[in-house]
Amino acid sequence: MTQSTHLTWHDSEVTRTEREDLKQQKSAVLWFTGLSGSGKSTISVELEKLLFQRGVHTYRLDGDNVRHGLNQNLGFSNEDREENIRRIGEVSKLMLDAGLLTLAAFISPFQEDRDQVRSLLHKGDFIEIYVAADLSTCEARDPKGLYQKARANEIQNFTGIDSPYEAPESPEITVNTDETTVAEAAKKIIHYLEVHGYLS
Ligand code: PPS
Repeated sequence: MTQSTHLTWHDSEVTRTEREDLKQQKSAVLWFTGLSGSGKSTISVELEKLLFQRGVHTYRLDGDNVRHGLNQNLGFSNEDREENIRRIGEVSKLMLDAGLLTLAAFISPFQEDRDQVRSLLHKGDFIEIYVAADLSTCEARDPKGLYQKARANEIQNFTGIDSPYEAPESPEITVNTDETTVAEAAKKIIHYLEVHGYLS
């Protein structure tokens, strides 16, 4: 990749804290990781609805959506996934500075890539949420028919089938969708945000 040179950072006159104060909220990045079909998107959609009802200004970044635009030139090799997550990390950082509560839902299968995003942000700004579900559960759900295609070799490098998924080592929150409903999972996350001072 070509590196840009001769660049100067321009500070704004308005700070992140001032933007947060304007909205009377705290910004943070809620990072959902899990297998395809684990429930990342469904839970983040439900959670965003609940947060919006409480007057929180949010934005949701989602794998399929972002790959339609910003990351449409990326596939599913390990390198492309790494670049996918790197870019989303940078976008999340901008949203954090904008004062928003961002919900980022990506398979993000590699611990190292997720840790890279974490290290890009300040402590407490990155909340890793492991959306856990057995591969067999995800495969049985198969909401987009992708597991069936992967098993039939119509899709290559499919996470959990012929591409690895590394579960988080120490996520802030784990929701196991084998056992909990979408509503319960969203409630658990809201509770975490309240207890840790992200929501008033
Ligand atoms: S990653 O691994 O974080 O870069 O993936 P992500 O950007 O979240 O995109 C995952 C969605 O892409 C669809 N899809 C695939 N997923 C995994 N492996 C392969 N090979 C693949 N091909 C297409 C799929 O719809 C994923 O969405 P979710 O919501 O996870 O099912």
